[in-house]
Amino acid sequence: MSIPHLHPDTIEQVKQRVDIVDVISEHVVLRKRGKDFTGLCPFHDDKSPSFSVSPTKQFYYCFSCGAGGNAIKFVMEIGKQSFGDVVLELANRYQVPVKTLEPAQRQELQRQISLREQLYEVLAITAKFFEHALRQPSGEGAIAYLKTQRRLSDETIQHFQLGYAPGGWQTLYGYLVDHKRYPVELIEQAGLIVPRQAGQGSGHYDRFRDRLIIPIHDLQGRVIGFGGRSLGDEQPKYLNSPETELFDKGKTLFALDKARAAIAKTDKAVVVEGYFDVIALHAVNITNVVASMGTALSLAQVRSLIRYTESKQIIFNFDGDSAGNKAAERAIGEVSDLAYQGEVKLRILNLPEGKDPDDFLKTQSAEVYQSLLDHAPLWLDWQIQRTLEGADLNQADQFQQSTQAIVKLLGDLPNATLRTHYIHRCAELLSYGNPHLTMQLEADLRTQVRGQRWHGRSQKWQRPGDRTLQEEAEAQLLRLYLLLSEYRSFIRESLDERDLDFSLAHHRFFWQQMMNIEEMELHNPKELIDQLQDRCAEYPDKLAYIYHLIQLDEKTKRDVLRARW
Ligand code: UTP
Ligand code: MN
Repeated sequence: MSIPHLHPDTIEQVKQRVDIVDVISEHVVLRKRGKDFTGLCPFHDDKSPSFSVSPTKQFYYCFSCGAGGNAIKFVMEIGKQSFGDVVLELANRYQVPVKTLEPAQRQELQRQISLREQLYEVLAITAKFFEHALRQPSGEGAIAYLKTQRRLSDETIQHFQLGYAPGGWQTLYGYLVDHKRYPVELIEQAGLIVPRQAGQGSGHYDRFRDRLIIPIHDLQGRVIGFGGRSLGDEQPKYLNSPETELFDKGKTLFALDKARAAIAKTDKAVVVEGYFDVIALHAVNITNVVASMGTALSLAQVRSLIRYTESKQIIFNFDGDSAGNKAAERAIGEVSDLAYQGEVKLRILNLPEGKDPDDFLKTQSAEVYQSLLDHAPLWLDWQIQRTLEGADLNQADQFQQSTQAIVKLLGDLPNATLRTHYIHRCAELLSYGNPHLTMQLEADLRTQVRGQRWHGRSQKWQRPGDRTLQEEAEAQLLRLYLLLSEYRSFIRESLDERDLDFSLAHHRFFWQQMMNIEEMELHNPKELIDQLQDRCAEYPDKLAYIYHLIQLDEKTKRDVLRARW
């Protein structure tokens, strides 16, 4: 949909109402730094946070790639959308009334917006209907199930607005269409009724029949869909609303509306698998908990979650059975980059005997659960544990396998200090604590991990074709500076005078490092290179890009020296 003639007032109002931090943090993990927020730039392959967002100026800017603008520009760039579409989307989101210059288009817009409003309304009325039905004689079985099998109090039942969808093919249909006079198409669009298939008669039937109803809310607490659990063995166990205009499963987290305050307060978010796991935990006052609704956690879901925790802590509590472990790995797949970059502190909790939280709480107290949460291992520790689990390290082949798996895990770790720490830990684990063996293994692991890292890296930068002219020119200037000490002050002053800086982040970094060292007056290039190498070793991610500046082969050296004349 493209609306070319938005009224200028609308555009102005949208600009005033949007919150750039709110908009951007849907796509970027932002951390507060003083007045501003920083994160990894989504517009280029950013290795360290160069992306900055100013809430006071309502402006974003990337110091590496130069991307910048206001909230509208951000959404346009990130979603490759037109200006008009973005303004409209934001107007909708921030409840700005839309005025266009052409009446026909205005009507179409109003229709779209009012469709959403009507959907919210019909879903809210339906939730009430289900809640009411739970207290009717036909809901006796359902309420008994909630109270005895699930041991839930009236308070919890009301808090989650749990309900009951009566049996029969057209119970809700009758209420909404015949009684309340809602259009059939609207109710179908809300995902509440299903058209009969050809050959099976005409008309529609209720999607949810004789099921316990769990409403799903958006962040503002509006009902956007339902989960329906069968009361017996009917399949499927859970039937959910389909995706609708309002309900996007990949972006929704169950109970985030009820958990966000506690997530902010405890500074951590717990993710579980099932609706009833969330409900059971909230019922015992552990309320920083949401569920992913049976699907792998998407990046969008993780981002919406960590907005509320300052220290970006997430604990995944997956069922401890094999399917649960797979689920954990699958879910983590999308989050792994964030975790490795240290953007998210990810912990994994598997409950004993493969139980889910709901089952666990039937025999254990909230305190026990809470203490397991508090001691949940970091994701990397969890992976190491799992690698070693059940392996007999006295068997050469199993030892070899475990070592390789660990080298692979640690090689991906970008932070040198952490790597050192983990290499030591793993050496201890692999040698069953034998101190002599630990020392040997540690040295061995270090070599192997380094080998893996260099290997991975060499492929990264041995791509001269990728380098642009500008990058090459900047690199050449840096090499000149490095090799020809007599030119250094000239290069420095020239840059200073014209207020020039290197355009590539890793060049700027390299330059900064050299500037720091220069105070020591190292005229001999070899000494300077040694110093640089030492300093840069602490920044392995940067080193990948600037290694070619330090490692000068004879030909490059000759070329640079020739530039003297
Ligand atoms: P589980 O099968 O682990 O269920 O599904 P659970 O939450 O422990 O269920 P109870 O305790 O037997 O009631 C976890 C989640 O996966 C989704 C639901 O969101 C459920 O809460 N799911 C599961 C479905 O959507 N459909 C299904 O048929 C099963
Ligand atoms: Mn369960």
